[in-house]
Amino acid sequence: MKKVITYGTFDLLHHGHLNILRRAKELGDYLIVGVTNDAFDRERGKLNVRNNVLERVEAVKATGLADEIIIENYVGQKIDDIERYDVDIFAIGSDWEGKFDYLSNFCQVVYLPRTEGISSTQLRAAAQESIRLGIIGCGRIAKRFAQEINYVAGVKLSAVYDTELQHAEQLAKENGNCIACANTELFYANTDAVYIATPHLSHYNYIRQSLERGKHVLCETPMVLKEQEAQELFQFAEQNKCVLLEANKTAYCPAFTHLINMVRSGVIGEVVDVEASLSKLWQDKTLREFDPKQAGGSLYELGSYPLLPIIKLFGTEIQNIHLYSRMENGVDIFTKGVVNYPKATCTFKIGLGVKTEGNLVISGTKGYAYVEAPWWKTDYFELRYEDRNKNKRFFHMWSGEGLRYELQEFLSCIYKQRYSTGKLRRHESIAMAAVMEQFTKRINTTEI
Ligand code: CTP
Repeated sequence: MKKVITYGTFDLLHHGHLNILRRAKELGDYLIVGVTNDAFDRERGKLNVRNNVLERVEAVKATGLADEIIIENYVGQKIDDIERYDVDIFAIGSDWEGKFDYLSNFCQVVYLPRTEGISSTQLRAAAQESIRLGIIGCGRIAKRFAQEINYVAGVKLSAVYDTELQHAEQLAKENGNCIACANTELFYANTDAVYIATPHLSHYNYIRQSLERGKHVLCETPMVLKEQEAQELFQFAEQNKCVLLEANKTAYCPAFTHLINMVRSGVIGEVVDVEASLSKLWQDKTLREFDPKQAGGSLYELGSYPLLPIIKLFGTEIQNIHLYSRMENGVDIFTKGVVNYPKATCTFKIGLGVKTEGNLVISGTKGYAYVEAPWWKTDYFELRYEDRNKNKRFFHMWSGEGLRYELQEFLSCIYKQRYSTGKLRRHESIAMAAVMEQFTKRINTTEI
């Protein structure tokens, strides 16, 4: 019996898929179809697949062409499958010409003609109206964010706004077909949703004016520096039927979500401590980050990152927080925080003018989770135990600038009309704003 194997995502199954399956089947007597699993697709940077793996398997099954369906979970699995199933022919569409020649050491490799004029990508684009996204503030992070939009389906950059028109024009020029504005009305007329990437102190007004116009908002972290403002804005967003999300990139990345969910499920026992640090030394002291008038300093700039794992694991019912800050020219160039809960004490260190090891350690009664620097761009973590044989490492992808994950979650909230996401709950954002406010008021804050 001649066995043939082929692979694909088979999203929104179309006649191109049917043709390739038919052609593959005709090459032999028994057809095995490998369907990629959801996590594997995400790993490969395919963030926009519409059908989940069960739906895609069902669709392939319904063609009646597959004698056996398997799931493709990891890179390199094709060789394992060919050997395990004693495969004679590996078949794939001609768009992959040459890419799988290495498999000819294991079986015959056949590239089959691809059907012209149809693809899942096209169908996804046609099925989904694109959200017109505008960017407010055309600085460093906005430049990176604009590039990331290209990796997420269902959204297009429609307008960019800056108080300095030439900054907007520059960003628009780098990103093709979008309108550059220094006029808010023109900007809002061309957007359904906005990403705010301006200095911290301007966030509140931009969020409010966007929500007033019914625009969904993704705002850079820290969203606001006052608890009351955060509460009010989330309420206002829901009243206006708008999504409001804080763009804390770590919260949305796949490895961090996996880590937090594993720890919550008890793999290191009861969690009793989180230590999180992060530092970013800047040479140029004229930057906004060092300007007290623009809410510069380590806590405002970096604080929401170490607070994230602490709040995710212990919640927002914080007993008290003590902050120890080294001040220089009116900003904290280093802050150490001690966050007390009834049965836990967590610490964090952040620095714009002091360098420190930037790792994350979550300690539990049975073991600990370790994420090396830069943990806030998590792509790998390790669970460690007394018995080292039980240690386990987990690897993920941190694609590009890592901003595509927050954008994807933002869009998913818009499409599904969800005002809150488990990745970063509204009360968690509010709790972070409360910490910023505590620092502003110098409550429990010691200058060192
Ligand atoms: N295929 C084909 N003709 C098409 C589209 C896909 O022959 N018009 C083949 C691919 O070459 C591959 C298989 O179908 O062998 C599964 O491809 P998949 O990547 O799932 O389909 P695409 O439509 O190409 O998906 P996407 O647009 O997401 O890349």
